[in-house]
Amino acid sequence: MKFNIAVIPGDGIGPEVIAQAKKALDSVAEVFNHNFSYTEALMGACAIDKTGNPLPDETVKVCEKSDAILFGAIGDPKYDNDPSAKVRPEQGLLRLRKDLGLFCNVRPVKAYDKLIANSPLKKERIEGTDISIYRELTGGIYFGTKELSEDGQTASDGCKYSVFEIERIAHLAFKAAQNRRKHLTLVDKANVLETSRLWRKTVTAMASQYPDVTLEFLFVDNAAMQLILNPKQFDVILTENLFGDIISDEASVIGGSIGLLASASVGKENALFEPIHGSFPQAKGKDIANPLASILSASMLLEHLGLHKEATAIDNAVQKSLELGISTEDINSENPFPTSKVGDFISDYIQNPDDDINFSNIHMGQSTII
Ligand code: IPM
Ligand code: MG
Repeated sequence: MKFNIAVIPGDGIGPEVIAQAKKALDSVAEVFNHNFSYTEALMGACAIDKTGNPLPDETVKVCEKSDAILFGAIGDPKYDNDPSAKVRPEQGLLRLRKDLGLFCNVRPVKAYDKLIANSPLKKERIEGTDISIYRELTGGIYFGTKELSEDGQTASDGCKYSVFEIERIAHLAFKAAQNRRKHLTLVDKANVLETSRLWRKTVTAMASQYPDVTLEFLFVDNAAMQLILNPKQFDVILTENLFGDIISDEASVIGGSIGLLASASVGKENALFEPIHGSFPQAKGKDIANPLASILSASMLLEHLGLHKEATAIDNAVQKSLELGISTEDINSENPFPTSKVGDFISDYIQNPDDDINFSNIHMGQSTII
């Protein structure tokens, strides 16, 4: 089958990790006889440098025409450290999410057996953790009215949600729970925030449509604590934009590295797949960043296109790389492999999913099977 994939490498380590995800997709195309046609587009600091705009119109057009979008990372320290900057790289991503209506962000969090020792959390606490975070992505405080008083002494960010916005993502979260362990936790701050009370009321009213799902509520401060104390209690977490941003970074600690967490941002017409990590500018160009989150994002992209066997082929290759310790320094400090070599191994393994691997060749960067 033929698919058009928009590719936005973005800033920092984005281009390096996306190159590995493309290698994995190319292997999938070869093995399963598909044709993936990539169109590259600009977004973020690199787009500001070239065009003055973090999200050029051309990028939106390329994305709209695509079957799926693969995105790397966004951000650059020269903007982070300048609160008065008029344009910021992140505006590009936020506008793209909004323009394409990508309201549902799914972030799976798993404790991989092989990496349990990497997590600063105790093994018994995290072993077997498998959470799917449903983060609302196009509303709330991220997109509310922002104001800075003329004298620069007061600022505000409005947070607004409608029943429509809550219901459309809540349906998806309930359905995900039905296909998993049938447990949904709404994370909010309903003891303080009016928007959270609307979330609670709306989601509670929907529960009767999903009688097989147990619905629970947790205040976000408690949820932040529970995620570290007992992450296994969670199945699907549903939450608003800002809380989802925060607790998904927190949850990444369970997996041992933020370099492992992939995500899907889905709307009615389009879908974008990206690692949850940032642009890691200190590592840019050094071939040390973990490409797994990007590669796993490519797997989520295939899943979205209905290519389930193909997605599994990527997941198995990632699993194998972890088992063999063919990993970057964040999860393998003793014998780290470069970003590109991890990518080479994974794309080779997709083509030759065999256990008989010639280790000396892996070290040479050619993981040919003997
Ligand atoms: C994320 C990121 C973004 C967000 C930034 C880069 C705007 O942290 O995808 O989690 O806050 O949504
Ligand atoms: Mg974030």
